[in-house]
Amino acid sequence: MGGTPGTRTVRRTAASTWSESPPPARSVDPSGQRDASARPLCEAPGVSVLVTGVAGFVGSHLAARLLKDGEEVIGVDCLTDYYDTRLKRSNLAGLSEYGRFRFELVDLAAADLSLITADVSCVFHLAGQPGVRGSWGTAFSSYVRNNIIATQRLLEAIRDHPVRVVFASSSSVYGDAEEFPTPEDCLPKPTSPYGVTKLCSEQLVMAYRRSAGIDARCVRYFTVYGPGQRPDMAFSRFIAAARRGEAVEVFGDGRQVRDFTYVDDAVEATIRAASIDEAGEAIFNVGGGSTVSVSGVLATLGEILGEPIGIRHLPAQAGDVRATSADLSRIERLLGWRPAISLRDGLEAQVAASAVDS
Ligand code: NAD
Ligand code: UGA
Repeated sequence: MGGTPGTRTVRRTAASTWSESPPPARSVDPSGQRDASARPLCEAPGVSVLVTGVAGFVGSHLAARLLKDGEEVIGVDCLTDYYDTRLKRSNLAGLSEYGRFRFELVDLAAADLSLITADVSCVFHLAGQPGVRGSWGTAFSSYVRNNIIATQRLLEAIRDHPVRVVFASSSSVYGDAEEFPTPEDCLPKPTSPYGVTKLCSEQLVMAYRRSAGIDARCVRYFTVYGPGQRPDMAFSRFIAAARRGEAVEVFGDGRQVRDFTYVDDAVEATIRAASIDEAGEAIFNVGGGSTVSVSGVLATLGEILGEPIGIRHLPAQAGDVRATSADLSRIERLLGWRPAISLRDGLEAQVAASAVDS
């Protein structure tokens, strides 16, 4: 790692009702999306951007985008076995094709983090234990470890550094929200142990921001999808089952609604969150801009695949909320971000990528 601590710089650049809404936003001006985030996050030689959870779904997309933008990226991950680690290694193989990428196998909940945080100007903290429905019972310990403990250790490691942090929080902090679309200041009431650990991690980040002066921001992702989506998530499971000619498993009646967010949109929002100088209101919803039911998704997927999808209903799952819907006013106002990819286009991209993978 080049540079010395003295040369580190952070570049100062810049319960009501819901209804299904139409897809966004092909109309968003793509050039407008680029302006704020095209500026480099680091300006000093030898200074890097750190991405935690880099081998995972969103982290690998984020790292690829940062590398394409010309950043030096250090990626860390401990390759948990929550899902097939071959997928994570494949994500890393793609990133290693960029010369400016360095991977470190690091467990944030256990390792000495001083070296990996020494010469970085910005930390994108995406490492964690995801998954709403699996967070009950004995699995909870890995949620505490990889979400809460890992985040606290990372914050301690950077508290004396002039580092900017963007934390990947979750729509799961809201639980069954009292307001749709849900603004960031809605009282969070998680309905799953996972959501509790994400809220706790987010509160830790905000406590270090308030009391230790860490320049932190949180992005609350709403159900992210696209190529490389985690295999436990709905679209991955639906596409895999349909390709095998099997019925897809729908939890509950299929009328639950999500504000599905395309991964490139989530990445763009995340980079923008790091790119502004002042983040007075440091928590941002990152939603896809359309709220669609699981049944609605399956109808679209059937159109894309050219055949109807068989459905097998299973009991509703504990912790699954009835609906999510992001109020995007704040992120539009402060970061100039809106989602650009419609559900149909994003789903087509995920289907196409899964055909290559299978
Ligand atoms: P993912 O599981 O694909 O990626 C997370 C990565 O973190 C994994 O590769 C894992 O090995 C790594 N990791 C876990 N614990 C670690 C530790 N102690 N040290 C180092 N690495 C560790 O998940 P994802 O879907 O890419 O989600 C990324 C982040 O975004 C997570 O924090 C998740 O809670 C959050 N999030 C995701 C979504 C979504 O829809 N995918 C929505 C809301 C929030
Ligand atoms: C997703 C991620 O998995 C979480 O890590 C993340 O924090 C969360 O989004 C979030 O937005 O905060 P979830 O919304 O449950 O959680 O995403 P999916 O796993 O894609 O499920 C979407 C919907 O499809 C849920 O209602 C789920 O019950 C349903 N589903 C999922 C099925 O009906 N069948 C399946 O096989 C899988």
